[in-house]
Amino acid sequence: MAVLKVAQLGHPILRRRAASVPRDTLRSRDFQRFVDDLIETMREYSGVGLAAPQVHEGFQVLAVEAQKGQGEMPEIPLTVLVNPVVTLLGEAMVEDWEGCLSIPGIRGRVPRHREIRVEALDRRGEALDFAASDFYARVIQHESDHLQGIVFLDRMKSFETLTFLDEYARYWAEE
Ligand code: NI
Repeated sequence: MAVLKVAQLGHPILRRRAASVPRDTLRSRDFQRFVDDLIETMREYSGVGLAAPQVHEGFQVLAVEAQKGQGEMPEIPLTVLVNPVVTLLGEAMVEDWEGCLSIPGIRGRVPRHREIRVEALDRRGEALDFAASDFYARVIQHESDHLQGIVFLDRMKSFETLTFLDEYARYWAEE
């Protein structure tokens, strides 16, 4: 396994639409190794999610996970999604803080749908179909946006809450 280099905002791959992964590819050792590396990279940098374009691979693959003790965030089980289709459910929106390993040192408040339906393949090609809400839904929306070339800044209503981490800790954290 290896920790991969994370693409930073400005790298064109972050603005490209990722290609869907053919079923045959899922069975290859290279692909499985890539998924292991994606997970290892996400954990190395304490991200709660990472999408393949963020490690310079233009495929529709993402991983999400939030472990106990990782800030005040709720836990999210390790989930790998291949070729995900996210359907936004209902009208309810929630605004909360987001950051991104490709936009280091910055946070901002982003409105997201509270509930989503996720259809995807897992890393072995098994079909997944589940509903997610709140923080889990937020992280999946953030990561699946990366597969469309969208970053969280694009989803902000305004940049008034955009803040560096030091200033976040100083002025915003208690909110
Ligand atoms: Ni991100």
